[in-house]
Amino acid sequence: MHPVLESHEDNQEALKQRIDPKRVPRHIAVIMDGNGRWAERQGEHRVVGHANGVRSVREALVACREIGVGYLTLYAFSTENWNRPKPEVDALMDLLVKTVVGELEELNANGVRLNTIGDTAALPESCRTTLLDAIAATAKNDRITITLALSYSARWEMVGMARAIAREAKEGLLDPEAITEATVADRLSTAGMPDPELLIRTSGEHRISNFLLWQIAYAELWFTPVMWPDFRKEHLFQAVIDYQCRERRFGLISEQVTPG
Ligand code: IPE
Ligand code: IPE
Ligand code: MG
Repeated sequence: MHPVLESHEDNQEALKQRIDPKRVPRHIAVIMDGNGRWAERQGEHRVVGHANGVRSVREALVACREIGVGYLTLYAFSTENWNRPKPEVDALMDLLVKTVVGELEELNANGVRLNTIGDTAALPESCRTTLLDAIAATAKNDRITITLALSYSARWEMVGMARAIAREAKEGLLDPEAITEATVADRLSTAGMPDPELLIRTSGEHRISNFLLWQIAYAELWFTPVMWPDFRKEHLFQAVIDYQCRERRFGLISEQVTPG
C-alpha cells in the first residue's frame, strides 16, 4: 500500500482503539456545514461542495456503525434553506434523490435503517416518493438508524407539537395538568429515539441554526473548523474521544457523578 495511505489508516485505527466501547453515544447528531465555502475556495460552484459532501456522509455512517452508535441524525436541509437561490435548492433535491437511490443497496447490506424528520410534504414529489420507498425498503434493518433532517427546523417541530397537544386537549383526550416532558417528547418528530448525547458541527460556526432544540438540552457539543466535504472517519472518532473525556454532570456536582 502507498505509505501515505497506510499512515492515514493507521491513524484512523489508533483513534478507534482509544474509544471506550462501553461509553459510546447511542445517538450522534451532525450539522453538516461548509459545503458552499469548501467549493468556492477552489473556484467551484457551491453545488460541487454538496456533491462532495456525500462521501463525508458515508464516512460518518461507517464510523458510527464501526463503534456501535445506534442513531446518526444529519441536518441536511433546514426550513430556512428553502430561501436559498432556486438553482441551489433544485440541485440539492436532485442530489438527495440520486444519493438515496445510489446508496440503497449499501444501506441494506449494512443493516442501516433510513428515516427522515422534517416537513417532507414540502419536498418535491420525486424526492418524497424516493424517500418513502427507501424508508420502506430499509425498515427491517436494525444495526443503525440514519435520520435525515429535511425541511426541518426545531421551531417548526415545536409548533407541530404544540398544535398536536392543543388538539388532543380540545378533544378531551389529554388533561393539560397531566402534560409531562414525555408528552412533549412523544409529539416531536424524534419520538421513540434517544436524545443525542453528542452534537457535531463542522465549518467553524458555533451555532445551532434551529436544530433539535429540545433534544440537545444536555448534549455535548463538538465544533470543528473542518468543512463538511473534508469530514472523515477520524473526525468522528476524535469527537467521540473528546466526548468520553468530558464529565456530564446533568446539574449535579462532580462527586455525585463519580463517587469516591
Ligand atoms: C451545508 O453547507 C449544507 C446545507 C446547508 C444544505 P452550506 O451549503 O451551508 O455551506 P456554507 O456554510 O455556505 O459553506
Ligand atoms: C444549517 O446550516 C443547516 C444545515 C446544515 C442543513 P446553514 O448553513 O443553513 O446555517 P447558518 O445559516 O450558517 O446558520
Ligand atoms: Mg452553511
